[in-house]
Amino acid sequence: MLQEGKLYIGTSRKPDDAINKPEYLELKFGNRHGLITGATGTGKTVTLQILAEGFSNAGVPVFCADVKGDLSGIGAIGEAKDFLLKRAEQVGLSPYEFQEFPVIFWDLYGEKGHRVRTTLSEMGPLLLSRLMNASDAQEGVLNIAFKIADEGGLPLLDLKDLQSLLNYMGENASELSNQFGFISKSSVGSIQRELLILEQQGAEHFFGEPALKITDVMRTTNDGRGAISVLAADKLMMNPRLYATFLLWLLSELFEELPEVGDPDKPKLVFFFDEAHLLFNDAPKVLVERVEQVVRLIRSKGVGVYFVTQNPLDVPETVLAQLGNRVQHALRAYSPREQKAVKTAADTFRPNPDFNCAEVITNLGTGEALVSTLEGKGSPSMVERTLIRPPASRLGPLTEAERQNVINVSPVRGLYDEDFDRESAYELLAKRAEKAADAAEQAEAQTTEEQIGRSRWTLPGFGDDEKETDSGRQARPRSSGYQRETIMEAAMKSVARTVATQVGRALVRGILGSLKR
Ligand SMILES: Nc1ncnc2c1ncn2[C@@H]1O[C@H](COP(=O)(O)OP(=O)(O)O)[C@@H](O)[C@H]1O
Ligand SMILES: [Mg+2]
Repeated sequence: MLQEGKLYIGTSRKPDDAINKPEYLELKFGNRHGLITGATGTGKTVTLQILAEGFSNAGVPVFCADVKGDLSGIGAIGEAKDFLLKRAEQVGLSPYEFQEFPVIFWDLYGEKGHRVRTTLSEMGPLLLSRLMNASDAQEGVLNIAFKIADEGGLPLLDLKDLQSLLNYMGENASELSNQFGFISKSSVGSIQRELLILEQQGAEHFFGEPALKITDVMRTTNDGRGAISVLAADKLMMNPRLYATFLLWLLSELFEELPEVGDPDKPKLVFFFDEAHLLFNDAPKVLVERVEQVVRLIRSKGVGVYFVTQNPLDVPETVLAQLGNRVQHALRAYSPREQKAVKTAADTFRPNPDFNCAEVITNLGTGEALVSTLEGKGSPSMVERTLIRPPASRLGPLTEAERQNVINVSPVRGLYDEDFDRESAYELLAKRAEKAADAAEQAEAQTTEEQIGRSRWTLPGFGDDEKETDSGRQARPRSSGYQRETIMEAAMKSVARTVATQVGRALVRGILGSLKR
């Protein structure tokens, strides 16, 4: 059953329930994306688990979110439970071998895994607007804030940095509006209030340094297996927008950072997007279009994206059309919407003359699914009614002690667990401010005030801020507070000058607005 270049999913059955044939996902089509759907309790998570196992064994790193905490067992060896042995027998899996997998646990809150962070600069205005559910006016102001920061080379590390920048924008709204477009003071104020709410919801855990390096979710082990990164998402699901934005950010990072590879023998990474409806629910049209674009283009970077959701109608048609490998578990068909979903799901398959798809979908058992994968030159195989194989790793969660053991021996141990001492950022900002102050003084001698517009940018109390900067350095403040504010303001002043004199080295943003490298 184990074939080179293929991942075994399960075994299909004939109309009389006799074994038909093993069903595979071809690794060379692993980057052609996929879809796992079905009602609650029909077997989606187990299907995700066996696919992750298969990719890992083939040397492909996997990233997935553990929404209910029941996926963590993939890090432990499976146990010979009766119903699993029975399933192995039904599908003809012999020998049925148990195995544990190389797992790296991640957690935005740093409780159930290594911390994951990014900086606001890296996330960009589009995703931040989504995270805040920003109005058009607010989004306009955020775009300007990032423009000011990008053009001035000013790193926005965390929420407090953005608060300071917004303060500055509020205080100088009319002047800045001339240069960047209209900045409404009330929108600035409302964004600041929204940022406070985000902070209270725990989003501040996610912004800061050290930011996640994507190479750390693309690791393989010495024996050639792909690491499975499991994001603890049970707590995160309380804030669905943060969850969806985080996964989008990661997708965007992968897209911006990875080189083109065309169609490789096997994917460079497989990314499972569980609870995918959260990504598209009331998302603005422009964001859906960008996601569609990234999903289409990321294929040639060797990344396969697999959406997991209850209902195929949760995924916009333009995205759905790109998902080549499909596992459809049972759906109910009581309400009209459910009936429509069944029909949509049935219609997307290449029909099998042996059965009526729509009928079978409502009658599938647990851990049973309609399966169609890409074959030949990349066309969908005829749909088959398939019993999914049992997992080789544990079905169910790890204990806390087991999870801690995995974390303790993780290859990224110590890399993300502590917040960076912010000194580095402080110094960077302070230095920039000093340099800009010097340059401005020199320029002042040669240029009229009007040409640089310097007076417009100068904040009261600056110019002799050296002392404040020095004491700030000695005190090494760690979070908010007066010193940080002062240095941010000094940096802001320098940014304003840089922008005013048009010597800024603007950062470039990609499709989803994260930084291009
Ligand atoms: N392939 C399978 N082999 C054996 N048991 C399975 C399989 N798929 C699902 N099951 C059983 O069904 C239960 C529910 O599956 P799960 O994947 O958690 O559903 P969902 O994620 O769709 O809510 C599992 O805990 C397991 O007992
Ligand atoms: Mg599930």
